[in-house]
Amino acid sequence: MELARELSDFLGIVEQRIVAALADGDAGPGVKGDTLMEAARHLVLGGGGKRARPMLVRLFGDAVGVPAETLVEIAVAAELIHSASLLHDDVVDAGMFRRGRPTVNSRWGNIVAVMSGDLILSTTLLRLVQMDSRVAETGLSVVSEMTRAAIAEVEARGVMDLPMPQLRYIAEGKTGSLFGWCGKAAALLAKKQDAEARFDGFGRHLGVAFQIADDIRDILGTDVGKPQYADLYSRSPSMPILLALAKDEGLRRKLRDAWAFSSIAPERAQELGAAIIATGAVDMSLERLNAEIVSALDFLGPYSDTVGGQELVGWARKLSDGITAQVRSKVA
Ligand code: IPE
Ligand code: IPE
Ligand code: MG
Ligand code: MG
Repeated sequence: MELARELSDFLGIVEQRIVAALADGDAGPGVKGDTLMEAARHLVLGGGGKRARPMLVRLFGDAVGVPAETLVEIAVAAELIHSASLLHDDVVDAGMFRRGRPTVNSRWGNIVAVMSGDLILSTTLLRLVQMDSRVAETGLSVVSEMTRAAIAEVEARGVMDLPMPQLRYIAEGKTGSLFGWCGKAAALLAKKQDAEARFDGFGRHLGVAFQIADDIRDILGTDVGKPQYADLYSRSPSMPILLALAKDEGLRRKLRDAWAFSSIAPERAQELGAAIIATGAVDMSLERLNAEIVSALDFLGPYSDTVGGQELVGWARKLSDGITAQVRSKVA
């Protein structure tokens, strides 16, 4: 109970710091307001984001005894790097809705969304440089990995036989690397070298599991803030789509036809979604998600006995239990 209080106080402080980081800056002489920051605030503030990464930073930090105040800056950076990646991702996917609101690209256009993401990224990384050079260096390396993964995902569009290691590479790059950094940065601040590798490994596997859960919710339609079937519309072979394609020749033909057209009608997407579920691919995705969580927990090693470590284990189990419950309620 005490821990839950501390965690929510911590997230409150992180939130205040995020608000401060997104305040209007100098947009030039005679220019009123700051369009790029206004756009960033539209995405980042006002609820809707789960703040998973700041929460992880705190738990990792607790597992190596870093004081909460030292962790705040890392938590803010993790959330802002994530936010920048979402600003860019919605341009790449032509996403129209996120966190229950119109996306920045749909309200201000692609130019503002891309530049707002760039501004958030550069200012965040600058702040990290001022804090600790290794933390900044590893943060930069994650941004480059996320960028590589984003283009790999674009290049995988419509590829119905995408090799599974490539799908995993994409998931680890776009989501796992930042989860890993949340732990790595905490370990760097604690100067605990063994924890650097363990937390990075844990975060990477957990991130892949988190991405698989996101892929599953896209097919089930259980994400409240985003439209269903985004992966089908953008021709992205997500985990359930790829597994279903490997199992069902008829579905391959249907999907090839659908992806050959520039857009898919909603009824068509629904039909394809049901066909994907009927192959058992959602349950198979769940198995893969759970295998990632097992690998994640292996990485934690002795740290799973610390208070923060126990919380990390609990967080991973909750991720699994939550998505399992959604699958059970939607898939007969
Ligand atoms: C969305 O991340 C993109 C993925 C990595 C799957 P989150 O699910 O953490 O999104 P928010 O921050 O809660 O909106
Ligand atoms: C995660 O992938 C995007 C980033 C980590 C940038 P998705 O493309 O699956 O995210 P959503 O589903 O749009 O939130
Ligand atoms: Mg997307
Ligand atoms: Mg998604």
